[in-house]
Amino acid sequence: MGYSFDEIIPRKNTNSLKYDFADERGGAEDALPLWVADMDFAAPPCVTDALARLARHGIFGYSEVKADYFDLLYQWFSVRFGFEPKAGWLVKTPGVVFAIAAAVRAFTEKGDPVLIQRPAYYPFSEVIHVNGRRLINNPLVYQGQGAYRIDFADFERKIAENNVKLFILCSPHNPVGRVWTREELAALGDICLRHGCLVVSDEIHCDFIYPGHTHTVLASLKPEFLNNTITCTAPSKTFNLAGLQISNIFIADESLRVRFKHEIERTGFSQLNGAGLTACMAAYRGGGPWLKDLNQYLADNLEFLRTFLFGKIPGIRMVEPEGTYLVWLDCRGLNLPQPELDSFMLREAKLWLDSGTIFGPEGEGFMRINIACPRKVLDRALGQLLHAVRTHFQLIKGELMHENPESKS
Ligand SMILES: Cc1ncc(COP(=O)(O)O)c(C=O)c1O
Repeated sequence: MGYSFDEIIPRKNTNSLKYDFADERGGAEDALPLWVADMDFAAPPCVTDALARLARHGIFGYSEVKADYFDLLYQWFSVRFGFEPKAGWLVKTPGVVFAIAAAVRAFTEKGDPVLIQRPAYYPFSEVIHVNGRRLINNPLVYQGQGAYRIDFADFERKIAENNVKLFILCSPHNPVGRVWTREELAALGDICLRHGCLVVSDEIHCDFIYPGHTHTVLASLKPEFLNNTITCTAPSKTFNLAGLQISNIFIADESLRVRFKHEIERTGFSQLNGAGLTACMAAYRGGGPWLKDLNQYLADNLEFLRTFLFGKIPGIRMVEPEGTYLVWLDCRGLNLPQPELDSFMLREAKLWLDSGTIFGPEGEGFMRINIACPRKVLDRALGQLLHAVRTHFQLIKGELMHENPESKS
């Protein structure tokens, strides 16, 4: 029997960032939260059982793990992605953003340029700014018809002109949902090698890939890439463990690893949360079948969204994701400036989504929706959206137009 993801599990009053902080985080109490990237599904039973055993044991002292921890990571990444890390490459951190920030400090100086590709997961910009580095942008090119591509000439020019020594890659890409091809990754990696630019490859979404696409671990493509890449992974998106704060960073090159570890030591961090370690091991050991069913459920949710938007709301176009459970919605057909679009979603559709511009000005006119929720919730969300669009606008002859009192006659 497969796993079901249909159960609606109430999350209010559980200290959930997604549900319990509407006032503090710009949401609304009466809006459906489909914003931050965690899922409304319980973690797999193998994980909840392991955590229940830990809780029953009752002692939560300092924790560390032995070789079997790495063996599980090795199994996961070698079998699924053909990436074969060595035990010595692993650095455990309490999160991927923590690791990216540490890499920014370890490998660049104040005022140095760091390259990203916007629209991009907004903490990338934050860690660059808050650490006093300079953000250089290689904007992704939107081609309409729901696809983004990389402007490689601009990528290389920006690196060369600014003498960029660190590039933060989002692979698969949040929010545009691209799963970069081997060719694209090879081209990026080669440019970086040519210019002595180190790559921090954030691969946290690697386990959510839609049929027809394949995730490639950048570091696995060429031996030269292996020695020029900090590969950031975590079980947190895959198994919904973000609150347990655990991530696994692989750095093959010893001198890079030493610098990175030194930066982490400077923060005072040493041991990871024991519950996170327990959950990570249980998930990688036994969570495969659950993940398979989850990916099918997400693909079905995506199809549900695609069909709904296409058939009923022509003003909103879904940027077809190749991976991740986050969907980038091109709402420019609604002709609303971003603040009005945000307010329309929150106040009229009663949907708490992420505003496109938090991912950079390139996100103007877009919204990001998280579809990792039971189908009934998605159905409700889309019903609310349709109702709001109908109320706010009039659908005339199949075309979405602004409400015009004269056309009411
Ligand atoms: C691309 C990307 N990286 C990192 C994170 C967060 O990772 P962590 O919670 O381990 O810092 C997210 C969460 O949405 C993400 O989308």
